[in-house]
Formats: sequence, C-alpha cells, structure tokens
Amino acid sequence: MDVESLEKSIEQDITHAKDFDDLEQARIRYLGRKGHVTALLKEIKTASAKDRPRIGAMANRLKELAEGLHASRLAELYSTQSLSKFYTPPVDPTLPAHDVTTGHRHIISQTFNEMKRIFHGMGYSLAEGPDVELEYYNFQALNFPDNHPSRDLQDTFYVTDDILLRTHTSPVQVRFMENNKPPLKIIAAGRVYRNETIDPSHAAEFHQIEGLYVDRDVSMADLKQDVEIMIRQLFGSKTKVRFRPHFFPFTEPSAEADMSCFACSGKGCPACGKSGWIEILGAGMVHPNVFRAIGYDPEQYSGFAFGIGVDRIAMLKYGIDDLRHFLNNDLRFSYQF
Ligand code: PHE
Repeated sequence: MDVESLEKSIEQDITHAKDFDDLEQARIRYLGRKGHVTALLKEIKTASAKDRPRIGAMANRLKELAEGLHASRLAELYSTQSLSKFYTPPVDPTLPAHDVTTGHRHIISQTFNEMKRIFHGMGYSLAEGPDVELEYYNFQALNFPDNHPSRDLQDTFYVTDDILLRTHTSPVQVRFMENNKPPLKIIAAGRVYRNETIDPSHAAEFHQIEGLYVDRDVSMADLKQDVEIMIRQLFGSKTKVRFRPHFFPFTEPSAEADMSCFACSGKGCPACGKSGWIEILGAGMVHPNVFRAIGYDPEQYSGFAFGIGVDRIAMLKYGIDDLRHFLNNDLRFSYQF
C-alpha cells in the first residue's frame, strides 16, 4: 500500500469507526503488532542509511496521526455512548415489583378535615389563634377567677407568668370577637396543651374544635340543634344527644353533651362503660362577663360556644383504644387509616 492510500485509509477507518469494537479493529489494523504502521516502523531498522531518515519520518508521522485520531475518536465515542453500554444493573424480572407507598394525612388531620367540612356546611367559618397564648386570653378574659385550679402550674404549661401554652381553643373566641362585630359564626381548630400525666386517655397535647355563634336572640335551642346535626353527620342519623348541666367560667348556663353509644345504641356496653352514653363536648351560653371584657353589650347580644375533643372523636369513630398512638408516629398505626 502506498503511503498516500495508507494515510487515507487510516483517516477513514479511525475517524469513522462506528463503535468501540470497530475502533479497536481499526487500531489493531494499523497500530497492532502486525499492523500496517507497525510494519513501517519495523522497516526503519532494516532500511539502508540513505532511506532511513525518510522512512523513519514517514512511519513516525503515520504513527502519530493514527494515535491522535484514535484518541479523539475514542473520546467522542465515550461522550456519546450512554452509561448502560458499560454497566447494566442486574435485573431479575421474576422478582415482585417494589411497593410504591404514597403518604396520606394523619388520622387526626383527616378527622379535623371531616369535622371542618361539616361545620362549613352549617355556615361556620374558620378562625385561628396562637398555640403560645397570653394568660389574659386563655383565662382572664374568659372569666376564670384568679384561684381557679386550671390556672395552676400543675395543669398548665407556663412560658412566663403572662404567657402559656393554650389549654383550650376558647381564647380564639375572645380574639375573634375583639376584631369582629356580631353576627358571627366561627370554629377554631387546633392543638391544646395540658400538664397531664400521660396514659391511654390523657395526653399533654391534644386537639380541639371550638364553635362560637353570636347574634341577637341566640338560644340554648340553637346550640342543641347545631351539636345534634354535627354529631349525627359524624356518627349516623340515629345518634341521640343529651345535655347535662356542668360548669365552665365562660359560659352560663354550661353543659356537657353526651351522645348515645354507637356500639350498643344506648343499651349499655363496655365501650360506654355500661351507661349507654358517651361524653363528647363542653358547651354553654357565652357568659355576660366575656361579652363585657370584649365590649359587646350582653343585653343586645347572646351566643353559644362549644369545645370538642378531636382525638376523642377520632378514637370513637375509628375504634382507637389509646391516645398515645396519635403522637407515636408508628407507621404501622398511621397506615391503617
Ligand atoms: N374550653 C372548654 C374545655 O376545654 C370546652 C368549652 C368550650 C366549654 C366552649 C364551653 C364552651 O374544657
């Protein structure tokens, strides 16, 4: 092969090698042990002194040309090949597919959302207040006397003398009324905190929904109606609701409401402690002193308020036997709902 056609075929074969195998074949063809360029290089030794410089120069030029083209074609091939050319992860198509688990809302959030939806349908809008609350809103504005036991360190987490973790959602009543005029119909939903010894039915943090309706001529009958509608939407239309007299500083009269046991329909069973009734909320008519603290005229306006424990509703509705499950973040629990 003359030098010119050798040079052309080097360029052709190496520059246009279509893949790694092709390129390697071309390298061997020219630079391999029996390659064309190698043969020329070997000729240098046997050439006469006269021819040697010419042959040497030519052979070395072709060697450099071939090596240079090879290096750049190799780089080109690496940059265009996908990695799978070099490594294919072992795949066993007979193995079961990976589980794709999507997250979902915590059962407490689900219960919150369900209850909020019910209240929204009844005309309540959502109000908010802080978890870290002033003592004033949590107790004083709600007509709690100075010596009321729930003000005690034993029951309440204080941050300073004036600041605490709210023990109920009732302070949102005061905050909302301060900034709004009746008629108003709101719920406040969120976390509350009490300095409790933790056991299956007591937690240091739990959740409440507060309801407040203020207008002219609001009566206890309105309260009973709304509580009944709400409970029947949650637990079924046959559920009965009864009110028992109770005491809260910020409502007068005050009551606790029970619903007929969903497990035995009121006959008495272990779920309701054989009484047929399950306590579900505290409620009452807004105390005139609360209206006075805000600047509403208790002669003009009346209203009702209630507070429901959301954890308790979730426990009853989904048959959960221990409050502590809600906060343990054990996925075996969470994924059941
Ligand atoms: N805040 C009371 C509690 O946590 C519940 C309640 C709310 C009672 C509204 C009456 C009116 O126990």
